[in-house]
Amino acid sequence: MNILEVNDLSKVFNLHILNNKKIEALADINFTMKEGEIIGLTGKSGSGKSSLMKCIYRTYLASSGEIIYKSNDGSLDLVKADDHRVIELRKTEINYCSQFLSVIPRVTAVDVVCENLFRVEKNKEVARSKAKEMLEELALPGELFDAFPVTFSGGEQQRINVARAIIASPRFLLIDEPTASLDARTKDVVIDMILGLKQNGTSVLCISHDEYTLERLCDRRIDLQFGRINEVEVV
Ligand SMILES: Nc1ncnc2c1ncn2[C@@H]1O[C@H](COP(=O)(O)OP(=O)(O)O)[C@@H](O)[C@H]1O
Ligand SMILES: [Mg+2]
Repeated sequence: MNILEVNDLSKVFNLHILNNKKIEALADINFTMKEGEIIGLTGKSGSGKSSLMKCIYRTYLASSGEIIYKSNDGSLDLVKADDHRVIELRKTEINYCSQFLSVIPRVTAVDVVCENLFRVEKNKEVARSKAKEMLEELALPGELFDAFPVTFSGGEQQRINVARAIIASPRFLLIDEPTASLDARTKDVVIDMILGLKQNGTSVLCISHDEYTLERLCDRRIDLQFGRINEVEVV
């Protein structure tokens, strides 16, 4: 059963400050994704990977085409769905983990990780202890748990970001470069955590440049080139 069907998707950016110069970021994008599948999204910098992910999460509104998502209560087109429905899905089913943590001021590392978990786990202390366990597995130094991530290193922020994205077991996860600035051991922990989600039925679209991560994590790959699909691996 497909969780996602992308049909003839395109995204054109209209740069008003540059005399309406148009940038075709995505064109003729067609692919499907099965429930429980992990797809690796590859391609050179600027090939449209993040734009595709943001169109699916609806941070960007696609210029044309369809993104049919099969939610727990029926199929809908994420290009046309109204904002309320999209916001609801973000709370209950679809999670997006950007490449960099957007730091929330004066919220501790543990509470940043718990953001999505607090919605389902009303006992805050239970949620926090789950977050701490996860951060321990990710080898974040204990003294940072109650500190503010704004001062953390890139690798530390990335671990917070990844933990936040996966702790509440989303149904569909969009994740941009989850292992880019991690050491080999932590990389393996993150890969195992994402594989654990898959075991529970999560579908994952994962941008990565890291051959080791792609090899261990993905069922198949979609490679983009100049905003178009260069190659879809079929299994
Ligand atoms: N918000 C935006 N406004 C204008 N152009 C953008 C925007 N986001 C992405 N682009 C352009 O779209 C193209 C694809 O970018 P992106 O999706 O970030 O590629 P990738 O993630 O593969 O590096 C690039 O030419 C980029 O400059
Ligand atoms: Mg990108």
